[in-house]
Amino acid sequence: MVEDNRLKIIVTAGPTQEPIDIIRFITNSSSGVMGYSIARVASEKNHKVVLISGPTNLAVPENVESIQIQTAGQMYETVKKEFYESDVIIMAAAVCDFKLKNPNTSSKIKKEDSDLNFEFERTPDILQRLKRIKDNQIIVGFALEVSDLQNKAIEKLEKKKLDLIVANEITASRSPFGKKEIDAFIIDKNQRVDAYKNITKLELAQKIIDKVEKLKLQQIKVQKFS
Ligand code: CTP
Repeated sequence: MVEDNRLKIIVTAGPTQEPIDIIRFITNSSSGVMGYSIARVASEKNHKVVLISGPTNLAVPENVESIQIQTAGQMYETVKKEFYESDVIIMAAAVCDFKLKNPNTSSKIKKEDSDLNFEFERTPDILQRLKRIKDNQIIVGFALEVSDLQNKAIEKLEKKKLDLIVANEITASRSPFGKKEIDAFIIDKNQRVDAYKNITKLELAQKIIDKVEKLKLQQIKVQKFS
């Protein structure tokens, strides 16, 4: 904790980009709006915010320290450095799960050079790794699922030992990426589900920060009396 009830909160946001060659990459449609909204709300509530972001077109909110990264590997290394001294991490980034095994980092692939059969490997699962080094930090993850949203989100919450999970549904015709108003669930460790319909990302960000603050206060009370 920085001072009083001021928390150090890490927020990750945006997509990651995994290079194919010096000009091409694999990415996804994350706009970054969710993560940047969380960073803005947290900073307006006077928390110390470190925003670790992949490439977006968004302006960094006031009083937020921003660290810009490109790949999942870089996001992991940056998160690790900041995590030890933080109170909360909110993983709103849409981290690419796969990267090329051998990207061409020195030139551009020519049509004739390659039959375009790429080999992929997994990027680090940042949340999964944080669970091994977690101390008293509150960890918030996101889940984007195509079906059976609540059950899959609860599975993810338990598997990754999260304190909260924010879940959105994605289908071919309905994507939360870039959308102004979305439907979302926030689920806690006791499987208490709060459902929000047609909520803006800024409003959802406020709900997330409120819940995080409450969890942190509860944690402090438990520590005091134990
Ligand atoms: N995440 C992460 N590291 C990754 C991929 C995702 O920390 N390499 C985080 C995201 O920031 C998000 C959460 O994991 O908070 C869930 O991401 P999602 O893509 O929905 O789920 P995955 O766990 O990657 O599983 P799957 O894609 O199989 O559903």
